[in-house]
Amino acid sequence: MNTPTPAHCAVIGHPIAHSLSPQIHHAFAHSLGLNVHYERILSEIPDFERTVQDFFARGGHGLNVTVPFKERAFALAAHSSPRARLAGAVNTLWMAEGQLHGCNTDGEGLVYDLKKLHADPKGQRILIIGAGGATRGVLIPLLEAGAQTLKIINRTPTRATQIAEELSTQQPQFAPRLAVGSLQDTQGQWDIVINATSASLGTAGLQHGAIDYAPNALAYDMVYGAQPTPFMQHAQAQGAQRVADGLGMLVEQAASSFAIWFGQRPGTTTVRQQLRAQL
Ligand code: ATR
Repeated sequence: MNTPTPAHCAVIGHPIAHSLSPQIHHAFAHSLGLNVHYERILSEIPDFERTVQDFFARGGHGLNVTVPFKERAFALAAHSSPRARLAGAVNTLWMAEGQLHGCNTDGEGLVYDLKKLHADPKGQRILIIGAGGATRGVLIPLLEAGAQTLKIINRTPTRATQIAEELSTQQPQFAPRLAVGSLQDTQGQWDIVINATSASLGTAGLQHGAIDYAPNALAYDMVYGAQPTPFMQHAQAQGAQRVADGLGMLVEQAASSFAIWFGQRPGTTTVRQQLRAQL
């Protein structure tokens, strides 16, 4: 793949200027000796589908999709993975045999990050807070990784129920391990607690019931920042021995996209360190 003509990849969104994806993917390519040019594409809202089609028509190799286009990317893809179907959202597009394929690598990225944090989901009791797109994107990989129990709690409990029903219909083998509830339904002891709400981003903080963290439990916020997030601080105060933010997930989901496009999963340690130092 080390040809004089770089493989052309990009991330498309609106806005897009803040995206760290070019830096991450260029670092991956460099580490593997691959010639990749990765750019940001700002698409006007109505132009998304045409912009994607143009990108691949001009020989584009792989495309990441971010806010607000992930659902439209799912609709556009002719083939998509079960995890993308449950999410109804796609963050990775590529062409194969003339057809557009889509996957959602967020969940795989989360699982890789949890393993890096020595919190392998296998056999763990996992509480996930939130029932929006972020949760939908990670459920199947967490269950495939062997989560013992996966309980989804949400401010609007019917959204959690809806996801669990969809997943149970799509993949009935997971139904016995799924549970749902309101933000107060935190009974039991938890090994991994994941904040997948957008709440810690806003001013109105997340109000959930008291959480009984198991010894050595991990509280994980999908959001990341220079400082521990409000969710992480609160979890520590409630007894979580370990906390982490979502920067690792960002890098790992990118590595999973890269693996789809180039058939090799890059190492992530250096990029993680670089990004952390930049925050
Ligand atoms: P995303 O695609 O980022 O997940 P979303 O679909 O809008 O975005 O979902 C946001 C999630 O954060 C939802 O679970 C939402 O709860 P509701 O389904 O009840 O709306 C949750 N959320 C946002 N603000 C919250 C808050 N202040 N307290 C609790 N949950 C909140």
